[in-house]
Amino acid sequence: MVEISERTRELGTENAFVVLKEVNELLRQGKDIVNFCIGQPDFDTPEHIKQAAIKAIKEGKTGYTPSPGIPELREAVAKYFSETRGIDVKPEWVTVANGAKPFIAYTILSVTDYGKGDEVLYPNPGFPIYESQIKANGAVPVPLPLLESKGYSFDIEYLKSKVSKKTKLLILNSPQNPTGGVFDKQTLKAIADIVLEHEDLWVFSDEVYSQMVHDGEFMSIASIPGMQERTIIVDGTSKTYAMTGWRIGYAANEKLAPHISRWITNTDSCAGHPNQYAALAALTGPQDKSRKMMLSFKRRRDLIVEGLNSIEGVKCLKPGGAFYAWPNVTEACKIVGAEDSEEFRKRLLYDAGVAVLSDIHFGHKNKGEGEHIRFSYATSEENIKEGLGRIKRYIQENKVH
Ligand SMILES: Cc1ncc(COP(=O)(O)O)c(C=O)c1O
Repeated sequence: MVEISERTRELGTENAFVVLKEVNELLRQGKDIVNFCIGQPDFDTPEHIKQAAIKAIKEGKTGYTPSPGIPELREAVAKYFSETRGIDVKPEWVTVANGAKPFIAYTILSVTDYGKGDEVLYPNPGFPIYESQIKANGAVPVPLPLLESKGYSFDIEYLKSKVSKKTKLLILNSPQNPTGGVFDKQTLKAIADIVLEHEDLWVFSDEVYSQMVHDGEFMSIASIPGMQERTIIVDGTSKTYAMTGWRIGYAANEKLAPHISRWITNTDSCAGHPNQYAALAALTGPQDKSRKMMLSFKRRRDLIVEGLNSIEGVKCLKPGGAFYAWPNVTEACKIVGAEDSEEFRKRLLYDAGVAVLSDIHFGHKNKGEGEHIRFSYATSEENIKEGLGRIKRYIQENKVH
């Protein structure tokens, strides 16, 4: 009998897509839902970027490109990484792919061997694809708790205790999905000190929200002396330029670039040709539209955090970046008699008309950290006010304690 492989049966997913299916079904039934699930900017791609793609198509730039990307884009990415990370990145060290996401698998494939017990450390809660790809590619996932009491940073001593000869890769994400936490300089320095003590440990630095730091400046771990050669820096156009569907991401590392390029040859061949011209226009063209979007996320961050903290039983740390809020709803669950964050999420969706994700969609619950839900505040200020109003009313009207 034809069978599905174990690794495919066990393959993880992004539960945002699963919950979205639930939300879409309710919308189809005519229900009124305020949606905080979607992790993408609610803006349209700026016009000059669209025009660059149209021009490329009209000029017949529609065939295969070199696997690591068109030279002009690699050059623009090298300049962008150099300027924003304060390091010197050469165009040959850059690879371009169909989004930042594929680099997760390419990197795991490039630095671990299947079934040999190679360990990969990754943030928990975190982007669910990290754990899923670590497992699918035969490495051992080792979760690193991001702790609310530490402003969504790691316990450095714990991190230290988890690094051994078997550890091949450390995945970092700052600003973070789902907590919105941002690693400060001191934390990055402490992490770098540990990495530099282990000469065969790579770092995957997922920096797709690098342009969305709301307070202070973005910093990459690659900027710390000695770390650039050990770090694969990953960023993309999705979040910064409202280009999630264009699928352009980029990565830089001198040693890994040719290997990642061969993985691209073995999988997608190359990123979409016209889309690479769109990304080139995004990086080299006017930045005012992107800056405006980033500023609006900061305004919405302030609005949602203040609103969440005014709801009985809800406590929310001020996230330093990205467009996510990760409130602690332990008390709110108790007040309405919900067993956990997932039951609370379902009640908010079906009884209050508010769609959010819960902590079980982002990994394993960390002991003693309580219950959390995730809001993507990439939605209008009116929606934020309406959604929070509904939650407030729901809690007030459904108290069991
Ligand atoms: C932390 C993180 N990394 C990577 C991605 C994927 O980005 P891209 O659209 O560039 O593939 C996302 C998207 O939600 C994300 O949140």
